[in-house]
Amino acid sequence: MSSRNEPPAFAADRLSVRFGGFHALREVSWSVRRGQILGIIGPNGAGKSTCFLAATNMVTHGGRLMLDGVDVTAMPAHRLPRRGLRRTFQQNAFFAGMNVLENMMGALVERRPSSLAGSVFLPWRERRLRRAIEAEAEAHLQRYHVPRALHRHLPGELSYGTQRMLSIALAAAPGARVVLLDEPAAGLGGPDMLALRNALMRMREEGLALALIEHHMDLVMSLADEVVVIDLGQVIARGTPAEIQADTRVLEAYLGKAA
Ligand SMILES: Nc1ncnc2c1ncn2[C@@H]1O[C@H](COP(=O)(O)OP(=O)(O)OP(=O)(O)O)[C@@H](O)[C@H]1O
Ligand SMILES: [Mg+2]
Repeated sequence: MSSRNEPPAFAADRLSVRFGGFHALREVSWSVRRGQILGIIGPNGAGKSTCFLAATNMVTHGGRLMLDGVDVTAMPAHRLPRRGLRRTFQQNAFFAGMNVLENMMGALVERRPSSLAGSVFLPWRERRLRRAIEAEAEAHLQRYHVPRALHRHLPGELSYGTQRMLSIALAAAPGARVVLLDEPAAGLGGPDMLALRNALMRMREEGLALALIEHHMDLVMSLADEVVVIDLGQVIARGTPAEIQADTRVLEAYLGKAA
């Protein structure tokens, strides 16, 4: 899917984060290519979510962020999604007063503001554009296993699993190049897990670069092309799923937390 010569779709280079006197991340580096899934694992409190906060400039950090070979370290957080860097959160976040379809349409429009320019003084053109965006939003939602019957509901009325799929559909709206997912499988049951796995595999096939924080080992180990293990704010191992599963440091990090 991606050539070794092209820069990674996203690279986090030596990320460091302090919360007051507490060093939450120390020089953590990882990168992901188009058509690749990077798994990020580690015990509770290891610093995984902090990695995503730093990677999206939501927190003050040391280190460098490269998006498609462009240095975006200094770019304000709100500009990154339009540049193709998207994320989902450990807790789902939607516009609660808007229905599912409107949330999706909002994501489509937000990412393509130029297509709305020029429509302002032409109501008929605006209506046509609105219908086109609506159709695109419906199709996109269905591809992410949010059935049409639910599109006019408020996000809060959906099952937990469908809310998860909605948050992924929003993050994967056209224009996405890199999607960071923080524990998408948390709390999901069997059928929802299948829908999630299916969506992640399709996103990869379509050439997205995915970074996946996950405690659900079956999912990470079966999907990830590469895995990075974080413990106490540092990378303690990286490699293929097979290499990571055989790594005694990784086992010790998890057993240490369980003891
Ligand atoms: N805003 C904050 N202020 C102070 N400490 C924080 C803050 N956010 C996170 N921490 C601390 O930083 C460490 C890393 O937290 P983080 O949320 O990144 O862990 P995590 O690996 O995502 O854990 P989990 O698997 O439980 O989600 C933890 O010790 C946490 O308590
Ligand atoms: Mg977390």
